[in-house]
Amino acid sequence: MTVPNLEILPNKTALIQYALGRSVEIIEQAIADHGYCTLALAGGSTPKPIYEGLAQRDLPWDKLHIFWGDERYVPVDHPDSNAGMAKRAWLDQVPIPAKQIWVTPTTEGDPAQSAQRYEDQIKAAFAPLQPSASESFPQFDLIWLGMGDDGHTASLFPHTAALTVADHWVTVGNKDGEPRITFTVPLINHSRRVMVVAAGVSKQAALAQVFSDTAADAAYPIRLVRPTGRLDWLLDADAVGDLNLPGAHRVAASP
Ligand code: 6PG
Repeated sequence: MTVPNLEILPNKTALIQYALGRSVEIIEQAIADHGYCTLALAGGSTPKPIYEGLAQRDLPWDKLHIFWGDERYVPVDHPDSNAGMAKRAWLDQVPIPAKQIWVTPTTEGDPAQSAQRYEDQIKAAFAPLQPSASESFPQFDLIWLGMGDDGHTASLFPHTAALTVADHWVTVGNKDGEPRITFTVPLINHSRRVMVVAAGVSKQAALAQVFSDTAADAAYPIRLVRPTGRLDWLLDADAVGDLNLPGAHRVAASP
C-alpha cells in the first residue's frame, strides 16, 4: 500500500469544498487516462453535499459509471437508501446514462442473493471496460468512503464476517443484525483511488485507534483499507482534535 495522504481542513464546509474539488480532478483525470470513470459512492450524511456540489459541475456525464460501496437492505425509495440520497442530491440532476448507474439490488428478500446479483452486475459493467477484471478484481477509479464513529466503513462493521471475505467482490454486511450489501475489503483495496471523508468531533476516538500501532483491524475495520492505489484521508479539524496523525498536513480553506 502507498502511504496514505492525510489532509486536515479547518472546518466541515472547507472539507466538503476541498473534497469536491479533488473528486472533480480525479474524475477528469480518469476520463483523460482511459475514456471513462468508474465511481463507487459512500452513504451516510457526510458525502451528500459533495454530491450536491457535483450536480452543479459540467462534467462529461456520459463517461461516468456509478456504483455504491454499500447499501442498506431497503428499496431505493426508502428514506434510508444510499442510492436514493445520491439520486436526489446529484444523479437525478445530471444526464448520466441510466444504464451506467448500477443501483444495488435490495429487493430479492435474501441479502446473500442480492449481494451475488450485485457482484454479477458489477462484472457485467466492467466487462467492456476492463476485460481481465472478471479473473480477479476490477479497478475502480475512485471509491468514496466515510467512517463511522466506531471505525466501520462501507458496511464493514467491527468483528463481522464480512471483514474476512476475500473471494467475492460483494458480500452481506451486518450492522447489529441489520443486513447490508457491501463491497469487500479486497474490492476496495484494488481501487486506483480511495478517498475517505470524515468530519466532526464524534470521529476523534475512532481516528485515534485507526492510526494507532496497537488497535485491532477487526475492531476498527477502516484500518483494513490499504489500497494498492492512492488513499486520501480528508478530515476536518473537529475530527482530528489534538491527535498527532502521522504525515498529516493542514490545508487552508480555499477563498
Ligand atoms: C452508510 C455508509 C457508512 C458511512 C459511515 C459514516 O451506509 O451509512 O456507507 O459507512 O459512510 O457510517 O457516516 P456519516 O458520513 O453519516 O458520518
